[in-house]
Amino acid sequence: MKIVALFPETSGSGTENQLLNTEKAIGLKPFLQEKGHELVILNDNEKDLNAHLADMDVVISAPFYPAYMTKERLNNAPNLKLAITAGVGSDHVDLDAAVKNEVTVVEVTGSNTVSVAEHAVMDILILLRNFLEGHRQAEEGEWNLSQVGNDAHDLQHKTVGIFGFGRIGQLVAERLAPFDVTLQHYDPMNQKDMKGSTFVPFDKLVKTSDVITIHAPLTHSTDNLFDKEVLSQMKEGSYLINTARGKIVNTDDVKEMIESNHIQGYAGDVWYPQPAPSDHPWRTMPRQAMTVHYSGMTLEAQARIEEGVKDILTRFFEEKPFQEKDVIVDGGKIASSSYTAE
Ligand SMILES: NC(=O)c1ccc[n+]([C@@H]2O[C@H](COP(=O)([O-])OP(=O)(O)OC[C@H]3O[C@@H](n4cnc5c(N)ncnc54)[C@H](O)[C@@H]3O)[C@@H](O)[C@H]2O)c1
Repeated sequence: MKIVALFPETSGSGTENQLLNTEKAIGLKPFLQEKGHELVILNDNEKDLNAHLADMDVVISAPFYPAYMTKERLNNAPNLKLAITAGVGSDHVDLDAAVKNEVTVVEVTGSNTVSVAEHAVMDILILLRNFLEGHRQAEEGEWNLSQVGNDAHDLQHKTVGIFGFGRIGQLVAERLAPFDVTLQHYDPMNQKDMKGSTFVPFDKLVKTSDVITIHAPLTHSTDNLFDKEVLSQMKEGSYLINTARGKIVNTDDVKEMIESNHIQGYAGDVWYPQPAPSDHPWRTMPRQAMTVHYSGMTLEAQARIEEGVKDILTRFFEEKPFQEKDVIVDGGKIASSSYTAE
C-alpha cells in the first residue's frame, strides 16, 4: 500500500528528542518497510500533497502540522481508504466529504489530553497573573511594580467556564479544582453537574465567567462561534483561552475586543490556517500569550501518538476493527458523537 505522511521538517540543532518530524516520522520508516509498504514523507501541504492523491491508500498527518484533506482532494484520491490523525482533532479532513467518499477517519483519542489540559491551566495562570508584563520587565531591565501589579490577579475565587466538557475539559476541571475556583461548563453531551463543575447554558457561561477555556472540537456548530456577538457578551476584563481549534474564535473580532480592552487577555496554541502566516493578527495583538501549536506534542504525548498510529495501521493491515474511541468517520457516517453534538 502507499502511505503518505506529512510531517514538519527537521531543522536546527537540539531536535534529537523530537519524534514527530520528517526524520523520525514517529518510527514509521522501519515499521512500514518491514511490512512491505511504501511510505512517502512530505513536508509541504500546499506543494507536495496533490502529486500523490491519485494513488495514495492512506494519509497521515498531525493537527499541529495538518495535511488539509479538502473535498477537492478527497474527490481526487480514488484509492484513499484511511485518513489517520496523528493526535486528536480531525477537522483538517472534510468529514462530510470523507463520509461521501467512504474514507475512514481515525485519530489517537486520548493521546495528548493531559498535555493539553496542563497547557490550558498554564495559559490561565500566565494571563491572570500578568506574567507577560512581569517577564518583559525582567528581561528589559525594568522594575515597574505599579504597572505589573495593575493587572495581576489571584485565580482563587474566580469563575472558570469550560466550553466543551469532554476528555480535556474534564481534566482541566480536575486540575483547577485545588485553586478554589467556581467551575461551570457548557457541553450538549454532558448536560449535568460533574467533576465539581456546574452545567450552565451557553449564554450564562459566556456572561458570567471570569475565564473561558475552549475544549470542543471544530464542527459546523463551533466554527466561528466566538465572534463579536458572543465576545462582546463576555464579562468586561475577562480572559479567553483556546487550545481547541483556531477557527472556533473569529480572528479579527478577538483582536478588536482585546484592543478595546473588553477582553483582558487571550492565550492558546491553535491558529487558522496552520502553520500560521507570519503576519497573522494574533502574533502582534496586545495581551496575548499565544504559542505555536505544541501543547499536545510533549515528548510523552508524541510517544503515545507513535504507539497509537502504529496500532491503527496494524489493525488496518490485519483487517481488524479500530478501537471504538478512535473512530471519527466510518462506514459512510460520522461515528464520533463529539462531532455531531449541537
Ligand atoms: N491544542 C492541541 O494540541 C490539541 C490536542 C488535542 C485536542 N485538541 C482539540 O481539543 C478538542 C477536544 O478534545 P477532547 O479529547 O476533549 O475531545 P472529546 O471528544 O473527549 O471532548 C469534546 C467535547 O466537546 C463537546 N462538544 C461538541 N460540540 C460542542 C458544542 N457545540 N458546544 C460545546 N461542547 C461541544 C463534545 O460533546 C465533547 O464532550 C479536539 O477536538 C481538538 O480539536 C487540541
